[in-house]
Amino acid sequence: MRILTTISEVRAACRGARSPGECLGFVPTMGALHDGHLSLVRAAKASCGIVAASIFVNPTQFGPNEDLAKYPRSFERDCELLEREAVDLLFAPSVEEMYPQGAVTWVTVEELSGKLDGRSRPGHFRGVTTVVAMLCQIVEPDAAFFGQKDAAQVAIVRRMVRDLHMPIEIVACPIVRQADGLAMSSRNSYLDAQQRKQALVLYRSLTRVSELFNRGERNAARLIAAARKEFAAESSVRLDYFEIVNPENLDAVEDVSRGALVAVAAYVDTTRLIDNILLVPR
Ligand code: PAF
Repeated sequence: MRILTTISEVRAACRGARSPGECLGFVPTMGALHDGHLSLVRAAKASCGIVAASIFVNPTQFGPNEDLAKYPRSFERDCELLEREAVDLLFAPSVEEMYPQGAVTWVTVEELSGKLDGRSRPGHFRGVTTVVAMLCQIVEPDAAFFGQKDAAQVAIVRRMVRDLHMPIEIVACPIVRQADGLAMSSRNSYLDAQQRKQALVLYRSLTRVSELFNRGERNAARLIAAARKEFAAESSVRLDYFEIVNPENLDAVEDVSRGALVAVAAYVDTTRLIDNILLVPR
């Protein structure tokens, strides 16, 4: 695996690595890799001849009081994991490389960026879309792979790619869960044993909604009320939002007969976790 740190090197390497008809897959990450990330790499390897990944803890998607400084970093281990998955190229730029002094240009997906996590984390999605647009301009992939755990991110990146006519397929890969249901997240490393148990309320609330949906409940307000009951019984966890929305435009839906995205965010102590499920009518 080639590890490159400059934009010019990556651009040249990606262009040079391509042969006609071969697909270049790209997995952007912020490092601290876990099985969720590796599932994206495996999906990319399964459908693309060349796979590039990036590790960049993007400062512009963190708010002033968020966890940028303590965000887990494990570069050596991440490189070993990617090497083991036979990733061809890793782009690991510095902040200065990505944001040269005086950079004032942003990519914003209006409206969608203010929904779900965007409501609680103002500016977050502007940082995400700006860096994803930059990375895609540099790597020029045919397909980019994202985790469905960040469902709002997937919807927003898809919209950006559509609106900007970027010739990239956005592939969303299923959430990878631990045996007890907790969704894999780099931020799980902040949790101690007790908090990790408390965090299971996110998955429990989603499972409850799924059960009711499978039994025929189609009213979003009633599904949300049932989920909120689960949170009321786990008072150590502070619910940020529990919403049922259209997975494409992230607008709230009242009736889930045609399917919906059920998304939750909650704080376990100071750790903010997110999770979601898709309700799919049979
Ligand atoms: O999902 C993430 O890890 C980040 O938001 C991304 C897409 C790598 C952009 O920094």
